[in-house]
Amino acid sequence: EIYHNYFFDEPAFNTHDGGYVPLEVADAPEKPLAIPALLKPDKETDTDIWYTVTAQAGETQILPGQKTKTWGYNATILGQTIIYPVGKHIHVALENHLSELTTFHWHGLIVSGPYVDGGCHAPVYPGETKHIDFTLDQPAATTWLHAHPCPSTAEQVWHGLATMVLVKDDHINSLPLPHNYGVDDIPLVLQDRRFHENNQLDYHADYDPDGVQGPTAMINGTVNPVFDVTTQKIRLRILDGANRREWRLHFSDDLKFAQIGGDSSLLPEPVYLDHLMLTCAERAEIVVDFAGYHDGQTVTLFTDDTPIVKFKIHQFAPDNTTLPDHLLTINKPKVDSKTPIRKIVMSGMDESVMMDNKKFSMQRIDATQPVGQAQYWDITNSNSPESGMVHPFHVHGTEFLVISRNGQAPYPNEHGFKDTVGVNPGETVRILVRFDLPGVYMYHCHIIEHEDGGMMAQIQTYYPDKPMPKYKLMDMDTL
Ligand code: C2O
Ligand code: CU
Ligand code: CU
Repeated sequence: EIYHNYFFDEPAFNTHDGGYVPLEVADAPEKPLAIPALLKPDKETDTDIWYTVTAQAGETQILPGQKTKTWGYNATILGQTIIYPVGKHIHVALENHLSELTTFHWHGLIVSGPYVDGGCHAPVYPGETKHIDFTLDQPAATTWLHAHPCPSTAEQVWHGLATMVLVKDDHINSLPLPHNYGVDDIPLVLQDRRFHENNQLDYHADYDPDGVQGPTAMINGTVNPVFDVTTQKIRLRILDGANRREWRLHFSDDLKFAQIGGDSSLLPEPVYLDHLMLTCAERAEIVVDFAGYHDGQTVTLFTDDTPIVKFKIHQFAPDNTTLPDHLLTINKPKVDSKTPIRKIVMSGMDESVMMDNKKFSMQRIDATQPVGQAQYWDITNSNSPESGMVHPFHVHGTEFLVISRNGQAPYPNEHGFKDTVGVNPGETVRILVRFDLPGVYMYHCHIIEHEDGGMMAQIQTYYPDKPMPKYKLMDMDTL
C-alpha cells in the first residue's frame, strides 16, 4: 500500500492562518547542499566518550554578496552532527562563546531534567563551560540539539543554534540501510528565513507571535541546494527545524519513498508514501530509491509547489538490497487501569496562547508522574477547526506512543516512538507517556514563538518510594 496524502486536516495547514508567509525561490545560484561535518570526540575508550560542544557566533556565506551573521555549534551556522552511541558513558563539555546566556537542550534524548536535559533551568553564561554526563538507553533515532533559554529560544534558533544528534545502537548498525554519512545517509534540516539589508537576519523585524517565518527555504543552511546522488538508494534524516513552518514534502514524478523512522525510533515496519507532512521539531527518516533514474537526471524535493532540494543523479552501482519488512519491535508499556488519564489543553493563538489555561511559569510545577508508570495523556487543541493552527506538542525526557486521534487510529507513519506530535485544531490526541528518569521536564507547543509565549508547562517525575527532591528552578529575574 502506498499512501498519497498528508493525513493532517487540510484546512488546518498553516496556509489557513492570515500570517502565513509563502515560500518563494530565492534569486541566488544553486549551491551544493552543505553536509555538516561529524563532530570528532575529544577522546574515546571502550566504555566512555568525550565531546566538546561550543555555541559560537560567526558569519556564513548563504547568499551572494555579504555574509550573514549566524550562530552555530562548532560551526558558523547550525552545527556539526553529533553521534551518541547507546550504552557508552557520554561526557559533554558545553561551552558558551556567545555574548548572551544559552542552554543546550537535547531534544529527544532520555536524559535527566531539568539540568542535563538543557531546558531553561540549565543556563550556560557567556564565557562559561559546563560539564554534563549521561548514558543513553533508548532506541536509535535522529534527535537534535537546540538552544532553549526562556523566553528567547525562538530567537536563538533563528540565528542558527540547532544541530542533529544521531543516536546509534547495535540494532540499527546491523540493518541493511544506507549508513554512509554524507554519501547515502544525509541529514536535512528544513528551515525558512527572511534575509534583510546586506543579507542579514532581523528576528525582531520579522516577529510574529504565531511563529516567525521567511520566504526563503534554507536546507542545512544552504539556499537552492543541490545534492549529488552517487548511490541508488539514499536515506534522508529530515528534521523540521523551522520556528513555525510545516513542510508538505513530495518529489517530482510523485516518486514514492519508504519512511523507516519517526522522531524517537524506527517505525515497526517501513511505510510507503509519496507525500509527507512534518510539523515543527518532528523528524522522519526516509529511504529513496532512484532505480528508475539515470546519470544526468534530476529529482526535485518540493514543499507544496516550491522546490527545496535538487537531487542530481550520477552513475551508481545497482543495489538489490530490500528493506526489511520488520524494523523494530515496539514494546507498548502496560497501563494500570487505576491510573487516571491526564488531560492537557493547548489553547489560543497569537499572544493568548496557553497550556491548560495558564501561561508558563518557570518556578511552578504543573503536574507530577511517578517514574516507570505509563499514563495516557489526552492532548486537546481547542483552536477552532475553521481558523486554528496545528500545534506540535512536545515532551522533554521521554518518548511516547501515539494511541489515537479523536478516538481513531493514528496516522500510518506514527507507530514508532515519538517526542512531538502535531495536534489538529479541534482534535484530541491520546499519547502513552512513561518517564524513565526523575526530574523536571517541560512540555510545550513546538511552534517556538508559542513556547516562548507561554504555551508550555512542566512536570516533575519522581521515584514513588523516595521523598520528592526539590530542584533549583530558575526564574525570569535570575536570567
Ligand atoms: Cu525542542 Cu523544549 O524543545
Ligand atoms: Cu525537547
Ligand atoms: Cu502552537
